[in-house]
Amino acid sequence: MGPGRERQALIYMAGLRGRRPTVPTDPRRLEQAAQEAMSPEAFAYFAGGAGLETTMAANRRAFTRRAIVPRILRGASERDLSVELFGRRLESPFLLAPVGVLELAHPEADLAVARAAAGEGVPMIVSNQASVPLEECAEALGDSSWWFQLYWGESDAIAESFVRRAEASGAGAIVLTVDTTMLGWRTRDLDLGYLPFVLGKGIANYTSDPVFNALIDADPEPGPSGRITWKGLRSLVSLSRRYPGSTLTNLRTGRPRAGVRAFVEVSGRPSLAWEQLEALRGLTRLPVVVKGVLHPDDARRAVEMGADGIVVSNHGGRQIDGEVTSLDALPAVLEAVGPGVPVLLDSGIRGGGDAFKALALGARAVLVGRPYTYGLALAGERGVRAVVRNFVAELDLTMALAGCDSVAGLTPELLVG
Ligand code: FNR
Repeated sequence: MGPGRERQALIYMAGLRGRRPTVPTDPRRLEQAAQEAMSPEAFAYFAGGAGLETTMAANRRAFTRRAIVPRILRGASERDLSVELFGRRLESPFLLAPVGVLELAHPEADLAVARAAAGEGVPMIVSNQASVPLEECAEALGDSSWWFQLYWGESDAIAESFVRRAEASGAGAIVLTVDTTMLGWRTRDLDLGYLPFVLGKGIANYTSDPVFNALIDADPEPGPSGRITWKGLRSLVSLSRRYPGSTLTNLRTGRPRAGVRAFVEVSGRPSLAWEQLEALRGLTRLPVVVKGVLHPDDARRAVEMGADGIVVSNHGGRQIDGEVTSLDALPAVLEAVGPGVPVLLDSGIRGGGDAFKALALGARAVLVGRPYTYGLALAGERGVRAVVRNFVAELDLTMALAGCDSVAGLTPELLVG
């Protein structure tokens, strides 16, 4: 029957018993429902983009501008949704994009996503800014395939430590994100004066890292300064609760504040350059994937320097307002790197129909970003699984209705516009 019709049948049968999906299938309602489940600050952080959010709007327009032209009477009664990536077969062409600070969506954060990914057989790309140390994510992921996303910050030693930890925990690839050497101009967050990291959220990979901790030890926090306010005290207590170790010791030693301070100092790297890709290539034998590529020359150079894969991405429109969309950038990147290098895509994918278009244009697989975090906000692991199943179902049905029985059969001739 295929995953699409199975999912429809399940949902309609539940409807007969008076039950409606708690995780909406309509992406607009999914976002609305997640907004209701999250604090205004958390929703702004997830849903927002840079400036006027024109890149986010353009990401959507790039998909709606292109239209699928189905072929009829081809008897595509069974579809093969699988694709191959770095010697492994994936059941479907979806991966979960690295998303930081998932504790803002749900208390089980990355662990719920990891269990969902393992359960659904989709690779999770564990974020550098995870809310849970990567080793714990790896444990929840078990034998399933997962990748680690790296931000190469000011400290080369911390970057190396992250790579070693990811290798030791069984990561299948290292994804170097190159479009976030600093944060974009995120107007929703700015207008709320809200940045999760300074509250100690999304820094678990750092606080659990031996090199990072040695850095704090070498540069101890100067004693408290200035007037103590209630608000300041409240945030200090909540930070001390969340930080590794006992709350009382944390309050006494001031380590959490020192941790946040050190994080702010080392996490970005405005000077990031090709040297760091070269260094990463020298550090690991795992496949290296460069995420955030939009120019064909950059894609070609990355591959020449030993990158094994490319993610064409504008970071979901969070970094530059008025940026080229990934879908528009994809064809030139594909041409530049040639057929041997897997090119993945994200930014703006809201369902199986969008995935169909990206695959038809030549992407090997696609990353799902915000939609799965909305599922997480609504229903934890179950919510993420529902979103993944809905994406797979819609892709399966779209392929069937367009007369395609395999992902390899998705070609640009199926699109106009
Ligand atoms: C992200 N993204 C991201 N990327 C990355 O490499 N490391 C990270 O830690 C994060 N964190 C993050 C947080 C949030 C809240 C969002 C929405 C996104 C970018 C992410 O991997 C992906 O590129 C985009 O989400 C894709 O766009 P859509 O699908 O969300 O439109």
